[in-house]
Amino acid sequence: MQNSTTEKSSVRFLSNQCLKKIVVQGINVNSLLSMNDTGLQEPIQKELVFGVLRYFFFLDSYLSRQLKQDIKDKDMDVKLLLLMGIYEIKFMRTPAYAAINETVNVCHGLGKAWAKGLVNAILRKASSSETKPENIEEDLPVWLSKKLEADFPDHYQMIKKAFLIKPEMALRINRSKISPEDYKNKLNKAEISFRSSPFEEAILLDEPKASADLPGWLSGEVSIQDLGAITLGHLFFAQINERRENPARILDACSAPGGKLFHLTELVAFHKIECSITALEISNQRIKTMCDLGKRLGHNVPVLQGDASRLDWWDKKPFTHILVDAPCSSSGTIRRNPDIKLLLKEKNLQFFQQKQLHILTNLWDKLSPGGLMFYSTCSLFREENDLLIQKLVEEKDAEILKLKVPENVANALFTNYGCNLLPFDKISDGFYCSLISKKTI
Ligand SMILES: C[S@@+](CC[C@H](N)C(=O)[O-])C[C@H]1O[C@@H](n2cnc3c(N)ncnc32)[C@H](O)[C@@H]1O
Repeated sequence: MQNSTTEKSSVRFLSNQCLKKIVVQGINVNSLLSMNDTGLQEPIQKELVFGVLRYFFFLDSYLSRQLKQDIKDKDMDVKLLLLMGIYEIKFMRTPAYAAINETVNVCHGLGKAWAKGLVNAILRKASSSETKPENIEEDLPVWLSKKLEADFPDHYQMIKKAFLIKPEMALRINRSKISPEDYKNKLNKAEISFRSSPFEEAILLDEPKASADLPGWLSGEVSIQDLGAITLGHLFFAQINERRENPARILDACSAPGGKLFHLTELVAFHKIECSITALEISNQRIKTMCDLGKRLGHNVPVLQGDASRLDWWDKKPFTHILVDAPCSSSGTIRRNPDIKLLLKEKNLQFFQQKQLHILTNLWDKLSPGGLMFYSTCSLFREENDLLIQKLVEEKDAEILKLKVPENVANALFTNYGCNLLPFDKISDGFYCSLISKKTI
């Protein structure tokens, strides 16, 4: 038998503790990833935790059918251990005997040796049963599944399937430091295979890599960013590029951790556009992360700490362009953040909508006549997107402009007030954007 120190540092014990923190304490995976003591950065542990979350409802219903009686709430760690063991047996390549032995051993670490027999019996049965994971069409809570059907009557099946696919890793090459051609040569030399994307500075890796293993990472030659987010950056930049005769005064109102901000910085520098960019962000902690990122990339953008739904940070000079990449439910990123399926509740949507409306209506007054607001979210829900913009248009001197989405962007779906980027195959998370112009009087 292992001693208790080994048990408590084992991959499966640590994975079980991560799952418990998510399911019982409601801590999200991104927070766990930023903590050093969770072990979640380790590839096997990541696979176990993300895998259980990705197939949570399938695994849970499979387990329920095997149990004679429900596992008590106080033993949620044992239930999560079982889900993890079933996941490993059904979805990973670990030999079943190893998965069973290692999972059973975790019971000691949990101080629940009584559960060994139960875990052993359920996992043995799972290893001999025929239920094939390939048949799974979706893995969502009922409310979320129904909501997608209502909001996307023609595309919900594709979206639900895409939520089960592991996302591809996209890179944005920092053209302030290196040309795409030279960076691609570096990747070829390092034998890292990739594909091109609709955008010259963006590529998709065939296999995900740890950031430290990417050439030029430390010197800021490259950033990791979802291709959908890169697409949004281009759609916003196109508006600045079109009006380059008047130097733009741009606000990025919800800016951390700086993905779109630094992409925009790179685009205006590459296209030699004269403009000023100000970043606003409410969270000091996120400002710190953003400044660290800016340093690595070599970008120096002034950042204001402040609340976009208030006035006190504003110097009274109107902006010609405002980007509102709003705080949202992140429902479009479920394949990347599968914990959202468990942590997001339908009643939270109203809270997000109110927050978004406060930010939008407050910032509207800071826009010059004829100015442009670009609103985006990584949510798919109409409450946070079209229905919100509809409210703005009804209340303000606002006009919707048609977004010019490049033809090679395959996942765009136009709506009444904007455009969704649908989660599509492995390529992109789900997003929404809308372009709104302030009427000149
Ligand atoms: C979706 S994230 C922005 C992502 C960022 N634009 C990027 O591309 O990396 C939303 C950000 O808005 C910030 N935020 C939330 N409420 C805010 C408010 N009232 N004022 C300003 N920032 C806010 C959050 O802290 C979060 O960093």
